Amino acid sequence: MRLENKTALITGAARGIGRHFAAAYIREGAKVVIADIDIARAEKTAEELGPACSAVKLNVTDVAEIERVVADVDARTGGIDILVNNAAVFDMAPVTDVTEASFDRLFDINLKGPVFMMKAVANAMIARGRGGKIVNMASQAGRRGEALVLVYCATKAAMISATQSAGLALIKHGINVNAIAPGVVDGEHWDEVDAHFAKWENRPKGEKRRLVGESVPFGRMGTADDLVGMAIFLATKEADYIVAQTYNVDGGNWMS
Ligand SMILES: NC(=O)c1ccc[n+]([C@@H]2O[C@H](COP(=O)([O-])OP(=O)(O)OC[C@H]3O[C@@H](n4cnc5c(N)ncnc54)[C@H](O)[C@@H]3O)[C@@H](O)[C@H]2O)c1
Repeated sequence: MRLENKTALITGAARGIGRHFAAAYIREGAKVVIADIDIARAEKTAEELGPACSAVKLNVTDVAEIERVVADVDARTGGIDILVNNAAVFDMAPVTDVTEASFDRLFDINLKGPVFMMKAVANAMIARGRGGKIVNMASQAGRRGEALVLVYCATKAAMISATQSAGLALIKHGINVNAIAPGVVDGEHWDEVDAHFAKWENRPKGEKRRLVGESVPFGRMGTADDLVGMAIFLATKEADYIVAQTYNVDGGNWMS
């Protein structure tokens, strides 16, 4: 029960990695609010995760909605102790084919959303004066570019940078900002990624998924459960002295 009496707000937790984090935080004693654009799925997930979980509709690209949701959740729960900036979307194209619509969508959801979530939650945490933890979801995609994945990689590199700047600004308030950089994590998200690679690399569906799993030094793709240890740790008191870092949890894909 390392998160007893804590309230966590997790974006994009209707499914996938965020859902696993919500379940893990609840097992550790936290109350969790799922904030997701897919409110039907978020409500179903909250119901499945039990009474410590609730759902709220949030489009992280809408700054006014972020301010409203964060203020509501903060007032209703007695204060947000943990924010996980998890919501993100994927798209793929080389520089010769990148579109303005894809660029704007990915940077809006994957970078602008998390930055304004950090702003709203940090201000609420500062007002309450008891510190807090912010965990950002970066990616191995943010460690280096990939020929076919310009925009997504750039959003995740920017997430690592935003984690550093926010972490340095907020530690004086007792707020730790850190990030997790997963490698390849199986789940519905990878149905979409695999379909993109099938198109751009002219492969049969499922082949890229198999190949990326085989190339992980650990010997397989990651699962959301492989990430929960780090997600819990970064939200606990044991991580108080960890500031502005991004941790690779990727089976050995990247070393830094
Ligand atoms: N799966 C992987 O291989 C992998 C690898 C590295 C990093 N990551 C990162 O981990 C995080 C979670 O990934 P996942 O695989 O669980 O993704 P996912 O696609 O399964 O889930 C994303 C969630 O975000 C929500 N969402 C999308 N747009 C939103 C918006 N505008 N506002 C609010 N919610 C929105 C979706 O409804 C969904 O519930 C992401 O930040 C992703 O970039 C994933």
